[in-house]
Amino acid sequence: MYSSGGGGNNMAAAPTSVVVLDRGNNTTCTINLHGATVVSWRVNNQEQLFVSKQAVFDGKKAIRGGIPFVFPQFGSWNYGPQHGFARIIRWHVEKAPERLPSGDIEAMFCIVDNEVTRSMWNFPFRLSYRLILREKELHFNIGVYNVGKDVTFSFNLLLHTYFKVPDVRRCQITGLQGCTFVDKTRDGAIYQEVRDVVTVNEYTDRVYQNTPQEHIITNVVSNRKMRIQKYNFPDTVVWNPWVEKAREIQDFGDDEYPNMICVEAGHVSAPVILLPGNAFEASEILQVM
Ligand code: BG6
Repeated sequence: MYSSGGGGNNMAAAPTSVVVLDRGNNTTCTINLHGATVVSWRVNNQEQLFVSKQAVFDGKKAIRGGIPFVFPQFGSWNYGPQHGFARIIRWHVEKAPERLPSGDIEAMFCIVDNEVTRSMWNFPFRLSYRLILREKELHFNIGVYNVGKDVTFSFNLLLHTYFKVPDVRRCQITGLQGCTFVDKTRDGAIYQEVRDVVTVNEYTDRVYQNTPQEHIITNVVSNRKMRIQKYNFPDTVVWNPWVEKAREIQDFGDDEYPNMICVEAGHVSAPVILLPGNAFEASEILQVM
């Protein structure tokens, strides 16, 4: 399904056009073409992602929640907005949702460099984003292509995933013990994680480095577990703004912080360096356990 929230025939002008992958049994995934932001993932009618009630869908601002696509910069940037431009430009549908022989639903999205991207980041690239909706899983396959002939470029990439949770204080994240992390709440000081499971009880903004392929988050919706599997994403960012920061974020409700946890797979500590004619591929699988 492909629908336009903006109305009329002028799809290009509609700021909130969405594409829906519908697997049946109330299992769906909705992608807003603004940033190719996954704004909903329902498994048996149970929403898995957090989107703020204050989120703005104006086709300009990044959508506060779901899975914004961070590229080519993680964090602040001299040449453009925080977390790059991919989450605030309109993506193209490369392949409309289609049912595979397995019953799973696949769709593909892409962007290529244009005047806007070149004004911030003057490189010829192509970015493709393939999603597959399975019974209890959502798969992401990302390809970044340097389509130039002679210029090498470097970038960060991250899937800024907001999981919906009943109470963030009850979530535990596995797989981080022994990992070094940059604590952005303490001026970027570097520490090593000692806990076998990480819990979030305060303002948290950490970039864990060289993390394993798998994390499990406990006590997500319906008290289930969420498995994250990632490939070619060496870093894991854990973020929750907590009380005071939440108040500072305009498009985030003051009382919403207990109901989300961001656990983000990315390649952000060190840039990916991509030679002309080369491709970088990374993928992630989210699974409701
Ligand atoms: C996280 C960053 O990934 O995203 C935080 O580590 C940042 O530093 C957060 O505050 C939200 O960013 P934004 O730009 O969506 O408000």
